[in-house]
Amino acid sequence: MTITRFRWLRRGRSLIRRIFTHSQTDNSAYWKHRANDPGEAAVLYRNTEFNRCIRMSQFKILDAHLQKLPNVGRLLDVGCGTGVMTRHVSKKRTDLDLVGVDFAEMIDRAKRESVDYRNITWHSKSIIEFHDQADFNMVISMGSLAAIRYEPHFWQAIDRVSSQLAPGGTLLMVDPLHTFNFLARVKVSSVQVCQYLRARGFDVHQERGMIFWPIREMIANSSLNPKWTKRFYSMGEILLKIPGLERFSDYKTIIASRPG
Ligand SMILES: C[S@@+](CC[C@H](N)C(=O)[O-])C[C@H]1O[C@@H](n2cnc3c(N)ncnc32)[C@H](O)[C@@H]1O
Repeated sequence: MTITRFRWLRRGRSLIRRIFTHSQTDNSAYWKHRANDPGEAAVLYRNTEFNRCIRMSQFKILDAHLQKLPNVGRLLDVGCGTGVMTRHVSKKRTDLDLVGVDFAEMIDRAKRESVDYRNITWHSKSIIEFHDQADFNMVISMGSLAAIRYEPHFWQAIDRVSSQLAPGGTLLMVDPLHTFNFLARVKVSSVQVCQYLRARGFDVHQERGMIFWPIREMIANSSLNPKWTKRFYSMGEILLKIPGLERFSDYKTIIASRPG
């Protein structure tokens, strides 16, 4: 009884902290530590089925854009984590030259889990320091740029990756962008990102976002069984299609093309 009461007290305190405060401190140590978490929990959540559902949604968004890439093009996966998305691209487009960049701890895992993938080069580096000699036809950020919580570094990373795009190249961001403390990783809105890129000459538009965040809050780290997890996730994605409810999407999709 007392233990349960303490648990609720702790949850209540953490909820209040999340609503009223936002930490901008550099969180690279946090991600390096997460690289040791089992499976997809290293980059997503503790509920395995919820992660599987997220991947299905991400693959769908990504695949629609991969088709537009030229033959033998180059794609950069920023904050590639353990390389799940990079490997997905590698399977879909064997002709592409792929580069994944993340902290050394994540890249070590990505390399171990990708031994059979010949068209991927891995770089252990912060996005902010990354530079490649050749430009890319596409840069993807799957929840990675927004993971840079310190705002000046976030904008530096956007500059860095967008300057690596070839003329006509595309930056595809599927990132949690919010200004509400409770949801913010970096505290920046998708509208701000679009404006920033437009001011630099990019042709920018937003597509429908993904992950209904109230459901994500409830089940992403829970031990809810796979059947109900899938049902709740799907229900959330249906709710996002209802006019006015789009604002409840956690991840926003931004497509920015560099003028040709
Ligand atoms: C939510 S995870 C997503 C990982 C991957 N894109 C995926 O879909 O599996 C965010 C990733 O961004 C990486 N990250 C955060 N800040 C970074 C930085 N400054 N430079 C490189 N990677 C960074 C983290 O290490 C982590 O792997």
